[in-house]
Amino acid sequence: MSITLTVNGRAETLDLPPEMPLLWALRDGLSLTGTKFGCGVAACGACTVHVDGQAVRSCQTALGDVAGASVTTIEGLGNPAALHAVQAAWLEGQVAQCGYCQSGQIMQAAALLAANPAPTEAEIDEAMSGNLCRCGTYPRIRAAVQDAARRLQEV
Ligand code: FES
Ligand code: FES
Repeated sequence: MSITLTVNGRAETLDLPPEMPLLWALRDGLSLTGTKFGCGVAACGACTVHVDGQAVRSCQTALGDVAGASVTTIEGLGNPAALHAVQAAWLEGQVAQCGYCQSGQIMQAAALLAANPAPTEAEIDEAMSGNLCRCGTYPRIRAAVQDAARRLQEV
């Protein structure tokens, strides 16, 4: 069965089972490997992408449920010549340690700032609480979200 959706601004038609998790359709079907598998049960946030602007856990999102939707992955959030403010803040703050959780963290943070351009520290912690980091980069994540909010307000 063919499923059509938009991924990072491009129309894609995937001949994959509708019950396949979006995570694997992105990674194996489209070779977009920036989105990571962590837990597979919506408990870690490593697989976070945007579907129509909302942060979702792609490990628990069926491909068939996003037919016709617009999906953004870490590869489509910005590009090296025009980084998203969150990506720029992450680089400046040297947030990543091993890096495994970070694409999910960045996608979650970008969705937060799109909905709430000036979050308080408590709102940041609440919004990011479902994104786990085994390296414990949480203080740098919080600071980078605040930096990204400042950058977005300057645009
Ligand atoms: S892999 Fe999806 S939330 Fe952990
Ligand atoms: S940077 Fe290693 S798990 Fe988050």
